Amino acid sequence: MAELKWWQKAVFYQIYPRSFADGNSDGIGDFIGMTERLDYLADLGIDAVWISPHFPSPQFDVGYDVSDYVNVAPEYGSLDDFKRFRDEARKRGIRVILDLVLNHTSHLHQWFIESRSSRDNPKRDWYVWHDGKNGAPPNNWLSPFGGPAWEYDQATDQYYYHFFLKEQPDLNWHNPEVKKAMWDATRFWLDMGVDGYRLDAIGTIFEHPAMLDHRSEWTQEQMRRALKNGFAHGEDKELTKKWDLMYGLQVDQDGVHRLMQELRVVVDEFPERMLVGESDDIEFYGDGSNELHLAFNFPLMNTKHLNPNWIRNNQTARLAALPPGAWPCNTFNNHDSSRMNSRYGDGKNDEAIARAVLALVLTLRGTPFLYNGEEIGMSNYRLTDLSLFRDPPAVWFYEKEIEDGSSPEQALILAADNTRDRCRTPMQWSAAANAGFSPEGVQTWLPVNPNYVQGINVANQQDDPKSTLNFYKRMLQLRKQTPSLISGDYTPLHETSNDYFSFLRRSADPEQTCLVVLNFSDKARNLKFNLKAGAARCLFSTHKSENEVLSLNALNVAPFEIFIGELIS
Ligand code: NOJ
Ligand code: CA
Repeated sequence: MAELKWWQKAVFYQIYPRSFADGNSDGIGDFIGMTERLDYLADLGIDAVWISPHFPSPQFDVGYDVSDYVNVAPEYGSLDDFKRFRDEARKRGIRVILDLVLNHTSHLHQWFIESRSSRDNPKRDWYVWHDGKNGAPPNNWLSPFGGPAWEYDQATDQYYYHFFLKEQPDLNWHNPEVKKAMWDATRFWLDMGVDGYRLDAIGTIFEHPAMLDHRSEWTQEQMRRALKNGFAHGEDKELTKKWDLMYGLQVDQDGVHRLMQELRVVVDEFPERMLVGESDDIEFYGDGSNELHLAFNFPLMNTKHLNPNWIRNNQTARLAALPPGAWPCNTFNNHDSSRMNSRYGDGKNDEAIARAVLALVLTLRGTPFLYNGEEIGMSNYRLTDLSLFRDPPAVWFYEKEIEDGSSPEQALILAADNTRDRCRTPMQWSAAANAGFSPEGVQTWLPVNPNYVQGINVANQQDDPKSTLNFYKRMLQLRKQTPSLISGDYTPLHETSNDYFSFLRRSADPEQTCLVVLNFSDKARNLKFNLKAGAARCLFSTHKSENEVLSLNALNVAPFEIFIGELIS
């Protein structure tokens, strides 16, 4: 185990800064709040945090529109507040990675303000500018956030390209000055001691140079309805094809891997740092040592029905495709996706299923990433008023629905079910007003999910041994104490079962083999394993006692049981 790097052993926890902890009572999360909650995170048992963008930003895309890469958004605090957070995190053994948004800046970034000021401004070529074609945009490319990917700039009579919002113009990564400026910003935080980066939307860096029109016959509303504000569902191959037809010329283009190799050289100037890419494309691992350290296994979560066949097939394909030396990375949640409780549940056993999914992500081979609030079982919140929406693609979708003839009520429900706001509501710290996120009477930036009064809050769960929070703590502790769950290889067992998922994790140094059985069904089972070892000592089970020795010739597994046992001969 000793030879593993810290980021291979760590469990990461994503902090969405606007919603995590409000330290100055203005309804918006900040670094003072985050620092105050470090003891909570240490006690929870995570090893590293990824902080979504904390940079100054006009917040058109909640910080993913950066207007200054080397500073802290004033509502989140100052550079000194950041440094204090970093120091306090370090004292508790918590590593910190930041979010690096390379593809685009805010339209209010000084670079873009200069770039759009005139055609011969020295920064003109820092962004993607083109002449129109017969009074129309250069081609028919679209932004998945809604509408054309080109915005007309009257002052200079050209169009600029934006894969995301028009307030997020794409940088021109062919320009060496752009690279230099961004690598300088990258070094700025590494110099300050951050442990690495999550790379935002890395596949969108380059566009197809021929700029040919896409040939999709679908409208964007059709696509949007089919996707339900998620990314292409891996299980729906037809939908994936349709997505590629619409947007394929704008993503995963030549040159991005050379660029990642350059970035890796920059990051390797600093010891022990890491990069995780917001892409499921295995090519981002390069040869296993020359691009990103990790790329998220999104296909695992991109299903409506998480069942053992899906998981097993995913693992078989993914692990086989990794280049030598590459390390897997699994996740089920982030600030763009539905909350787990609201996603894989069957309406009856939602919590048990969510627990099984946590056990899965913590026992599969690879580095797990968790999302804030999952540990208390937060669920999606449905907004009831358009003025409360903060996620622009959802507002665009609402307007399109109305144009297409939906009633305002219908359009609101559709938009509210799909907006990313649903999983971004403030963290629920207690049963006090505003869930203890902000004091009573303060208007929080997104409404607090009222279910905090029903025990979905940290304070109520701390003292309840049966709570989701204490389940998370136990599972995180177990992972830390069980070397094979971190460094072990993976062998699937009982490969035809679609009710329960069972597998072995075996490590050589120290020698240990664990059997994991996750029952995703409401059926009890009696299982026989043909293993050399005839018995297992229970390390964790939702139904059995710790240290109980169990025969593997007839292992009783209860509905939705999670069982993790160490093989004994
Ligand atoms: C991916 C981020 O996760 C998402 O929240 C954001 O809107 C886009 N990239 C654009 O930066
Ligand atoms: Ca605040």
